[in-house]
Amino acid sequence: MGKIYDALEKAKKEKAVITGPIPANMSEPPALQAPVTSLLSSIKANNISNKLVVVTAPESYEAESFKLLRAQILFTQNRERPRTIMVTSAMPGDGKTFVAANLAASIAMGIDEHVLMVDCDLRRSSLHMMFGVSNKNGLNEYLKKEKNLQDLLIKTCVDKLSFLPAGNVTRNPSELLASSDMKAFLEEVRERYDDRFIILDTPPSQVLAESNIISNFVDGIVFVVRENATPRDMVQKAVASFDKDKILGIVVNGHTHLQKNRAYYYKNYYQ
Ligand SMILES: Nc1ncnc2c1ncn2[C@@H]1O[C@H](COP(=O)(O)OP(=O)(O)OP(=O)(O)O)[C@@H](O)[C@H]1O
Ligand SMILES: [Mg+2]
Repeated sequence: MGKIYDALEKAKKEKAVITGPIPANMSEPPALQAPVTSLLSSIKANNISNKLVVVTAPESYEAESFKLLRAQILFTQNRERPRTIMVTSAMPGDGKTFVAANLAASIAMGIDEHVLMVDCDLRRSSLHMMFGVSNKNGLNEYLKKEKNLQDLLIKTCVDKLSFLPAGNVTRNPSELLASSDMKAFLEEVRERYDDRFIILDTPPSQVLAESNIISNFVDGIVFVVRENATPRDMVQKAVASFDKDKILGIVVNGHTHLQKNRAYYYKNYYQ
């Protein structure tokens, strides 16, 4: 194995959080428990995705995995708390949007933390669908100086979680995201919302240049690997292309083995 793979294995041992696949029978959000009971009406009204597991299934294994990831990010002792965090992966469909949405909601559902979630996938945005909100205007319009930031932010069903959608599909996303305006945007939100974490959903780093560009402007990176899907060499290349010190955690998404073990553990625990 190459050095990068060894480093990844080491990072995985130290920082990996593993999410199982969402059970296939979870088509309807199960009944909510306090303190999120009040969200039930907005879930129905807003068409929130059942993949937003920290809201729709707060007692599930998957929601627990996100609490663990949250704790890893917020309470690690030997570094400063990262304020701007991007979620990325090597390939399309690894689960970046799934992780970004659930991580952002999980942090905002804590007692003190406020979160601004930003969809930086200007080609194939989907973060808005997780929350059942509009994608009409957003980062694209802000970077093109067509709208003010305050007019673009959307409140979500989760208290303390606001959202800047990607906006209209644009023909020049790389140029927009690589521009000094994007850097200025992150500096502005950092300063203006100095009590907030900023979570960025991004495109796949081995297919498009955008994530690597954005990584220069953020404090930390959460890297998603889809089990049995993301090719190993792509993971190696992707991890090597980022500043290793910025990688806060690796999420192994869709880990079936774990779910089986957990099912076994639960079955035995409750018997
Ligand atoms: N753990 C999981 N269990 C079940 N479904 C999942 C899981 N993670 C992601 N998915 C589903 O897989 C699909 C791809 O996930 P997602 O959109 O989060 O990937 P992505 O990396 O953001 O993709 P893209 O690169 O196109 O932006 C979505 O339909 C999502 O809901
Ligand atoms: Mg996505």
